Amino acid sequence: MSTYPTMEDITTVACVGAGTIGGGWTAYFLARGYSVRVWDPSPVAGEKLSRLIDAAWPALSELDKVDGADKSAWSIHTDLAEAVAGAGFVQESAPEDLHLKRRLFADLDAVCEPDVVIGSSTSGYSTTEMATEVTHAERFVVGHPFNPPYLIPLVEVVGGEKSSPEAVGWAADFYSRIGKSVIRMDREVPGFIANRLQEALWREALHMIDNGEATVDQIDRSITDGPGLRWPFHGPMLTFHLAGGEGGMAHMLDHFGPSLKSPWTRLTAPELTQKLRDDVVAGCLEASDERTIVDLVAERDAGIIALRRLTGSGLSSAGADAASAGTASASGTVSAAELDGAAG
Ligand SMILES: NC(=O)c1ccc[n+]([C@@H]2O[C@H](COP(=O)([O-])OP(=O)(O)OC[C@H]3O[C@@H](n4cnc5c(N)ncnc54)[C@H](O)[C@@H]3O)[C@@H](O)[C@H]2O)c1
Repeated sequence: MSTYPTMEDITTVACVGAGTIGGGWTAYFLARGYSVRVWDPSPVAGEKLSRLIDAAWPALSELDKVDGADKSAWSIHTDLAEAVAGAGFVQESAPEDLHLKRRLFADLDAVCEPDVVIGSSTSGYSTTEMATEVTHAERFVVGHPFNPPYLIPLVEVVGGEKSSPEAVGWAADFYSRIGKSVIRMDREVPGFIANRLQEALWREALHMIDNGEATVDQIDRSITDGPGLRWPFHGPMLTFHLAGGEGGMAHMLDHFGPSLKSPWTRLTAPELTQKLRDDVVAGCLEASDERTIVDLVAERDAGIIALRRLTGSGLSSAGADAASAGTASASGTVSAAELDGAAG
């Protein structure tokens, strides 16, 4: 069994593939104080990466940059072995092509020390199907980010059939340590969690356009001026917990459960068994932590006020005046006081 590096000892990481995602990871790792060694076969990769880091740095400086972070502490290499030399972690962000990922995993496996964990940015392949031509399958995991990886906190971490729990745990700890919001999945699910949810919405939207049921604008506004305003504060589960009023999710399911039989979506609904109902209700209570329904409503409402002022979504002229009078700053960022209010 490999002993993976001590987090504190890692000063250098490697990014393999430096396009939209690999470049975003590079910028993020730099902002967290690491040196980054990059490998990408494109002859223009270095120039593109330089532009991407320049564009990302102001945002990173505002939110995630640590003292001493050096924007220029990266190097680009033409040799893969040279690129990963001395790296305590490797983030793979090559194109989404299974054959290419398999070959690249094999090449990485050959040049990385066995105790180096390799995380893949893949949007949907499983580690099991990518790590088919490697000797040290135990150190390969998925570390699925969201674009732009230098700003969106979520990373979904999941191993394959041959990944060791130690490597999966190490990767989850590493991403957490550098400030990411990690979801560690204990089984491989196609599309992981977030892409599965996004995909369900995306497919239904395409069906609606295809059938002439909605326009592109109607679909976009149905989210940006509707449910999308609630999701930054509570995900779809706690949002519906509040849709049940004082009765919370239990009332919501008992009231609207029969709608699952209605043809509201082209997806097939699961049977709303007693177990599913109870699991969802219990999960909402656990996610609410100490917060009552009243607390959650106050939190959601403060958040939506801040967000509507920021985006101007559906504001009356009075609201728009309030927004332009300074609740959203000229730079388009929300003040710290406002965010405090939103969180409270
Ligand atoms: N774009 C997104 O929104 C997004 C979000 C999450 C995850 N991802 C995943 O991240 C990965 C990269 O996607 P992207 O959007 O950055 O693609 P991209 O096309 O922007 O970048 C891919 C980079 O890989 C390089 N490359 C080509 N062949 C390579 C090889 N054999 N080895 C290493 N690098 C190689 C290319 O030169 C390019 O710079 C994919 O697995 C994708 O599914 C993408």
